[in-house]
Amino acid sequence: MERRKFFALGLAGIAGSSLVSRIATAAQGVLNTKLAGSIYYTKENPGRWSAKVAGHAPVVEVKGGVVQVTTPHEMKGYEHYIVKHTIFDKQMNILGETMFDPATAKAPISKYEIKDYKGAAYALSMCNKHDCWVTEFTV
Ligand SMILES: [Fe+2]
Repeated sequence: MERRKFFALGLAGIAGSSLVSRIATAAQGVLNTKLAGSIYYTKENPGRWSAKVAGHAPVVEVKGGVVQVTTPHEMKGYEHYIVKHTIFDKQMNILGETMFDPATAKAPISKYEIKDYKGAAYALSMCNKHDCWVTEFTV
């Protein structure tokens, strides 16, 4: 093989693998970083809280522009409770936030009417003992 062709094929291979890598990274979403499982937790990266996924990863339902976020977690007064829910757009602008009063809240469920946004979004749920959990969803 000519030296010039060999060199060109090598560059094409490098460019191709870089493109494949970038596409794969984009498909994994913005939550799949080194911080997942250490600073924040997701169903896919629960880190030290792997036994806590079912009660902490926020469950999101979207119907007709209304987003409902539920954390299937107990509200046991100030001892163990969900502090708040926050939802963000893909630019990390806050679309809505709900604080829960552990003295009165029976269940950590919040609703948000989203009128002017379409696309990827993120629901955050904060437990007073088991940190911050995030679920990606689409509006
Ligand atoms: Fe908890």
